Amino acid sequence: MTAQHPMRGDVAVLVPAAGLGTRLGPGAPKALRELGGVSLLSHTVRRLGSAGPVGCVVVAAPVGQADAVRAALVADVPAGLDLRVVEGGETRQDSVACALAAVPPGYPIILVHDAARALAPPDLVERVAAAVRDGHDAVIPVLPVVDTIKRVDESGHVSATIDRSTLRAVQTPQGFRREVLEAAHRSAEDSLTDDAGLVERIGVRVFCVPGAEAAMKITRPADLATAERLLRASSSDACGAESGSNA
Ligand code: C5P
Repeated sequence: MTAQHPMRGDVAVLVPAAGLGTRLGPGAPKALRELGGVSLLSHTVRRLGSAGPVGCVVVAAPVGQADAVRAALVADVPAGLDLRVVEGGETRQDSVACALAAVPPGYPIILVHDAARALAPPDLVERVAAAVRDGHDAVIPVLPVVDTIKRVDESGHVSATIDRSTLRAVQTPQGFRREVLEAAHRSAEDSLTDDAGLVERIGVRVFCVPGAEAAMKITRPADLATAERLLRASSSDACGAESGSNA
């Protein structure tokens, strides 16, 4: 079936969610761990569903868990959003490739968004999609680097201090013209930690837009605590606001 939902928009989002999350300590695969009583993946899908241009979400679930993940997400999907769930692969890049292969026709803009960045706000998703729509082949959200960064050699000594004014920390969602992302994955040789890296390798220029603090990646237990704090702050903002907000 190749159902399309032009009424919701022409953007498909791939959500690699198949990682084990070993740095988070023992427990369920990371995307299925809970934050404020809801799985990280549910937070992610709810926020993606609140972004107007998103018409399709393809989740790469942990191996053997695609059916359970699909059933668990049904309640998080707004009317008209085409949710698909596939099994992920051994690396993040494999999982993105599995999800990419499942995107139906009719979605010329594709975003890739880590389930581990569960609190990325809908306006960030819209900003990245809008920059692709404006003509950029590849778009990444970035934040300035606040720490001093040094290169360290194998003996544990500093070999260089890097000028941080030229550095940026990179988040997701990353956005692409569909043909560009497909070409990058087709020619991928080794495994990289983000999709923009693959696109750079085929000679495509990557454009930066401002990221968001809430799009932090949840990797270690301390990140979960930070995310809990951000979640509480955003719910109290929503309670105090005049108009309602999603999630
Ligand atoms: O491990 P890392 O934190 O870099 O993972 C980033 C994202 O990639 C997470 O959302 C994780 O679930 C996903 N991932 C995946 N398949 C893998 C490894 C990681 O979908 N094999």
